[in-house]
Formats: sequence, structure tokens, C-alpha cells
Amino acid sequence: MSAELTAADAPAKRLSDYRPYPFTLETVRLDFTLDPDATEVRAGLSFSPRQEAAALELDGEDLELVSVAVDGRALTPDDYELSKTGLTIPANALPSQPFTLETVTRIAPSKNTALEGLYMSNGMYCTQCEAEGFRKITFYPDRPDVMARFHVTITGDQPVLLANGDLVESRDGYAEWVDPWPKPAYLFALVAGDLRAHSGTFTTMSGREVATNIWVRPGDEDRCDFALQALHRSMRWDEEAYGREYDLDIFNIVAVDDFNMGAMENKGLNIFNSKWVLASPETATDADYERIEGIIAHEYFHNWTGNRITCRDWFQLCLKEGLTVYRDQQFTGDMRGHATKRIDDVLALRGRQFREDRGPLSHPPRPDHYREINNFYTATVYEKGAEIVGMLHRLLGHEGYRAALDLYFERHDGQACTIEDWLKVFEDSSGRDLSQFKRWYTDAGTPTLRVRDSFKDGTYTLEFEQETRPTPGQSEKLPRHIPIEVGLLSENGDEVVPSTVLEMTEAKQSFTFDGLATRPVPSILRDFSAPVRLERDADTSELAFLLTHDRDPFNRWEAGRALAQKVLIGRVLGQETDASFSDAIGALLRDETADPAFRALCLNLPSEDSIAQALYDQGETPDPAAIYAAREGLARDLATAHKTLLAEIFTSSEATGPYSSDPEQAGPRALRLAVLRLLNRIDGGARAGALFASAENMTESLGALAALVQTGQDAAAMAEFRDRWQGDRLVMDKWFLVQLANCPPEMALERAKALTGDPLFTWKTPNRFRALMAGLSGNHAGFHRADGASYRFYADWLLKLDPVNPQVAARMSTAFETWTRYDEGRREKMRSELERIAAQPGLSRDLSEMTQRLLG
Ligand code: PHE
Ligand code: ZN
Repeated sequence: MSAELTAADAPAKRLSDYRPYPFTLETVRLDFTLDPDATEVRAGLSFSPRQEAAALELDGEDLELVSVAVDGRALTPDDYELSKTGLTIPANALPSQPFTLETVTRIAPSKNTALEGLYMSNGMYCTQCEAEGFRKITFYPDRPDVMARFHVTITGDQPVLLANGDLVESRDGYAEWVDPWPKPAYLFALVAGDLRAHSGTFTTMSGREVATNIWVRPGDEDRCDFALQALHRSMRWDEEAYGREYDLDIFNIVAVDDFNMGAMENKGLNIFNSKWVLASPETATDADYERIEGIIAHEYFHNWTGNRITCRDWFQLCLKEGLTVYRDQQFTGDMRGHATKRIDDVLALRGRQFREDRGPLSHPPRPDHYREINNFYTATVYEKGAEIVGMLHRLLGHEGYRAALDLYFERHDGQACTIEDWLKVFEDSSGRDLSQFKRWYTDAGTPTLRVRDSFKDGTYTLEFEQETRPTPGQSEKLPRHIPIEVGLLSENGDEVVPSTVLEMTEAKQSFTFDGLATRPVPSILRDFSAPVRLERDADTSELAFLLTHDRDPFNRWEAGRALAQKVLIGRVLGQETDASFSDAIGALLRDETADPAFRALCLNLPSEDSIAQALYDQGETPDPAAIYAAREGLARDLATAHKTLLAEIFTSSEATGPYSSDPEQAGPRALRLAVLRLLNRIDGGARAGALFASAENMTESLGALAALVQTGQDAAAMAEFRDRWQGDRLVMDKWFLVQLANCPPEMALERAKALTGDPLFTWKTPNRFRALMAGLSGNHAGFHRADGASYRFYADWLLKLDPVNPQVAARMSTAFETWTRYDEGRREKMRSELERIAAQPGLSRDLSEMTQRLLG
């Protein structure tokens, strides 16, 4: 259908080609008459020309045009040009004064499997317009710098009819919504269906009452309260932390089962993947609760950072995403503890963004060209974008950051902005020059920071060197402005120089500390103050020292991780390793003063993928089977060495009382499950089996199941779990995922193949497809089987999904982004799968761009 449109060689869009739209659009009137196969959309757009004699170019895809009129006068096909991508009305068919364009189009939501534009999910209508989905609803200047006021009516026989803004009229089969705030089309939303609300109210800082609703399918009402309370906490937090008040009388959230992404910040009508709304102790894990709270906050925070102030064009995506991720990270830190949140975030950053940055898909947080913008909703834009905001915060200090943000809201409310506008508010409010700092936005790649130290006559010197490898399209890299937070410890663990932020701007730069009695132990890059790869030849005793004594919780954990990584790499390469890691783990297990969630994080061994990455960074070729064996071996050895202590913790950390997802309970539960994963390696699955049988919440049930899967002795538990939960789509996604991601590698592919034949493998549903495929690709040694059979299977499924849902197929192709890391044999096999995909006739623009970039 869209094969020609999305041809592999569609030209790239370039940042440097930006031109303002030649018309302003004041108001938009949209009248929907819903029908699964022929929804009618009447659009009335009031334009004012900003230039003389400009043609009106409107985007439109997969639309049936019924009629066009200007100021009430019907146009004939001779008056305009209609193509596969839009409608152009030449200047000579337009008045030179403000005018109204009216179009009538027809669309078929029931046939929309790509889940972009207006589509159906379980009989309910919903929309997804970011980034360029609105053009699949009606002809429109579908670009974020065109902001207009929307007035929407919906006619349809669904009991609930929702759109953005405030409800001005409603009767049976009809609703009318007016959104007073100008917005770009990507924030438009419409929902219609048989929905139930879980409702509340929120009183804003100025005393206005806001009606809050979580809309779900009948039967799900009792799983919404956590999300509703999380919304209220988010609303309060944004008032307190940023002075931002909500600006409509109603705030709606809708849960849908078929959704390409996590959630979407449409004005006043957020639409969520049901996975990130619905929660009950029996069906959601502690981690799910925390994510739900974080995503609810993220989408809510977009109301100011994204909606009131939006992006000029899609190159600026990280303007809204980086900032909003940073804000949701701060929020979760405030709600649940900053130390563990920071560690979780850095784990995710390294696991996804550093990985992306080290391979063929590396791109700047603000890219300067793309073919398909959907392919740029990446860890670099989101997570690295957030790190950059965090660096600005660290460089300016709390007051300075707050002053810059106040200026941002004051200066740019109602505008569509750029990264330049954003940096300018920091410059203007602080008087600092951020031109070098800007490279974080425009340059790709993760800098490596090498450090050496020396001590002489009471003076301690830290000598840094930064280097960024070439990335696709950027061969030369200039030095970045890097905030390096450092503290110095004396040998008895006292902090002799408290945390201070060093600002590195040169390729090589030294910093000295005078007046020290003895040589200190440095704690460098505290709180992970910059998204860089720190290379330091610390010996194991120094790391063990930091793991015990550092005041900075992030660096405490980091020292443990570095130790674990050293040991694992030593094992993979067949080198001697010492006992310091095991000793340090022993000390940590005995340290009852440490936060349980923190101890749990220290007990989790680095992932196989991260070990592969570390080996690659060191110039070694990672061998997936050897990595798996080394990690299993270390886990077994730790379990054996500390079995008594571990067993004691397992017994003593059992929670009592009714379930709560608060850190007070979730922390000890995480510790207990981390302990279980170790003991499981030596107790024949006895504890996991018992916990699985007795668990009353999903955290423990799934934790026990994952442990059983690890040993491959999970058949009975899997069958029982399936029996119990087959009617629950969200829990079944977990079932698909866990048995693949956690199983012994030699079982992964056979299991995946068998699972695709399960009647519950409804592969057109993104969550289900992702569960199975991410389960397989998450099984590092199973995905990277030497014979390439997993690659083939995976590629076959991408090809099968592509015509149905190109966005999801393209995103899932990132399983191959590490292909250059491995040995010749694996590289060739992955490459030939990518080439096979690339050669597929009619491949989507999404997947085609991805395979081309992956192949480099
Ligand atoms: N803007 C959404 C978010 O960050 C993500 C999204 C992008 C959702 C594109 C759907 C489509 O929260
Ligand atoms: Zn976002």
C-alpha cells in the first residue's frame, strides 16, 4: 500500500533546510463521524498568508479526499495537486487575505495496523499522531512549528468520546471539545469506546479544581488507582519543583492495548500503553510500579516541556524529550531515593545509549538529518538528552538551573523552539558561554576520559585526557566541556577534599589539590556527572576500598561494578583473578546499615551484553558462550563462598504485612530476589520452587519463575503460570519474555520457535511481539549462537512484521546494532541477514533506513 512512498532511497531531510511555514494557522475545526471502515473527517483550517504568493502545501497520506473548498467555494481537481504524500494548492487558487480551507476526507481505522493516525484497538478508536501521524487523519501542515487552537466534534455510537482540551458539550453519540491552548498537530488525540473511568480531583496551587480520569476497558477499573495517585503526585511535584501549574479543567489518561510506544503526551488526553497504567500487586512487579509512576510523571511533565513549549522541527526532539526525561528522573529520585535511581538510570544509559553510540547507529542527540523520524526516538535523544540537562544543572548549580528554567518558561511559552533557544536561556541567566558545551547536542559518540594521578610534596594531581572516536558521518571530534565531580578520601576513609566539580574543556587537562598530608584515594565522576566512559587503572584494592568507604553512593556502587567487571573479564580471558570482589561482596552482605535496594544493585552482576561491550572496548573480540560461562561461574562461586550469609538474608528479608510497592518493601524484596538468583545456582532451585508456590505478588512470583528458568527446570512452573494467567494480556507478556531472556542459551531459539506457534502469540500486538523477540535477543548467548540460526529467525520475523507495523519492526532491528563487535563468522551472518532485509521489495522506509544505517 505504502510501498512506493517508503522506498529505500527517499531523500534525507536536513536540519539546514528548515524554512518557516508560509502561513499561520489560527484555528482548526475538526468534525469526526466515526466508522471502522469509513470515518469521515471534515476539517476547517483558517490560514493567514505570511508571504506573498505562496502555495499551500498540506501533508496527507493514505487519505481518501472527498472534497476541498476555499472560503466555501468548491475546488475541482484542476485547482490542486494531489500526490501520495499530500495536497498542494497553488497560490493562484488562493486569496491573498486570510481564508478558510475546508476538506472532507475518509479513512479506515479498522485497516490501520501500523497504529499511527486513527486506528482501532479492541473495538475502541484511538489516535497516535507523534511524530507524523496526523497526516493520516486529514490534510494538514503536519509540522510542530504550526500551532493552532483546535475545536473538535465527535459523532459516533461509542459511550465515551474524548479529545483534547475541555468538554463543552456532550450528549448521546456526540461530544464537543475545545482546546484553548495552541498546539501542533502531533499533540492531537481522539478516543472513542466503551470505557470506564477511575476518577479523582486535583486542586492546583492557585486553587483550581481539575477533574482527573484514568479511562480503561471494563474490568480493568480496579487496577488504576496507583496511576491516578501517581498523576496527582506528579502534578504537585511540578508545582513545587518547577512552579508549573496545570492549565485545563480536566486531565484524561486512556489505556490502550495496542500501542507502538510507552505513552503519549497529547494535550489533556494522554494515551498510554496499558502496560504502563494498569497495576495490581498480583499482576505488576515492584519495577512495574516504579516505571508506571515515572511514565505517568513523564507524560504529565510534557504539558509544560513539550506542549506549552514545543519543538520547532523534529531535529529538536531532544529539547522536549531530554528535558522531560531529566524531570521524571528527578521526580522518581524524590519519590523513591536518589542513589538507587541514579544507578538504575546509569545502568540503562550504558546498556542502551552507550551501546548505541558505540555502533553504526550512533547519532548526535540533535541529529542533522534523517529519513524517518520515528527511527530517532532513541536512547541518545532521550537518555543522553537527559544527561545533558543534568550536566547543565551541575554546572550552574541549583539556583542557576532554576533561574534558567524560569526564564525558559517565561520567554518561550507558546513557542516552538530549538536547542539554540534552550542554551540561550542558560547563557542569559548565568552569563556563561556555552558554545563549547553545545557540542554535547551536535556531536555523536561517547567520550572516553582517561585519568592518571600523582602525588608530590602534599600536592595531588589529576591529569585527564578526553577522546571521542569517530562516528558515522563525523570523523573529527573536538574536546567537550565535561563536568567531573571529584572527591578525595584519606586512607582511613575520611573525605579530605569534599565533592567539587572540575570543568574540563581541553583535550588534556590537569587539576591539582594542595596541602594534603598523604596521598588520597580519588573518587572520580561522582554521581556519574557526565555521560563518558571513564578509563582508570585502579587496582582491585582501591576499588574494594571505594566500595566500602565512598560517601558518594553512585561511586560506591560503581567501584563494585568495576570490580565485578574486572573479575568477569579476567575469567573470560582465562587470566588469574584475586578474591577481592568476593571479599567485598561478603562485606556488603554483612553491612546491615546499607540500604537493601542498594545492596541488591551491588549483588547484580553486570549483564552479558555489557561484558561483551567492555571486551570490545578493550580491543578484544567477545565470545558470547565464554561470557555466559564466566558469569554463571562467578555467580556460582559467590553463592558457594557466601552461602550461609545469603541464606540468612533470604530468610530474614521476607516481607510481612500487606503488599506495598514503596521502597520500604520493594528494597528488601529486591535484595531477597538478588540473593535468590545467587543461591539458585547451588540449591537446585529449591528456594525458587518454594517461593513460586507461595508467592502472593507478581514481584516474587516472577522473580522465582525467572530463577527457575535460569536452570532450565521450569516446565511445570511455566505451565502452571500460563494456566493461571492466560486471560491476562500483560502478565502473559511477562511469561513470553521471561522464559526466553533467562533460559540457558542453548534452549532459547527452540523455545522461541515453539512459542511463535502458541495461540497466544498474537504477533500483531506490539507488546506481544516485543515480549517474544526481546526475550530472544536479550538472551545474549542464545541470540548470538555461533550457527546464526537465531539471527535468521529474528530477521524472518522482522520481515513478516514490517508490512503490518513498520515502526515496531524498525525499532526491533536494533537487536543487530552490535554486529560489528563480534568475530568474523557472527559478523558475516548478521550482515547477511541485514542485507537480506534491505533487499526485500517494498520494505518500509522505517526498516529500510535502519538496515542501511546498520550496514553503514
Ligand atoms: N512522546 C512520547 C514520549 O516521550 C513518545 C512517543 C513518540 C509516543 C512517538 C508515541 C509516538 O513520551
Ligand atoms: Zn517524552
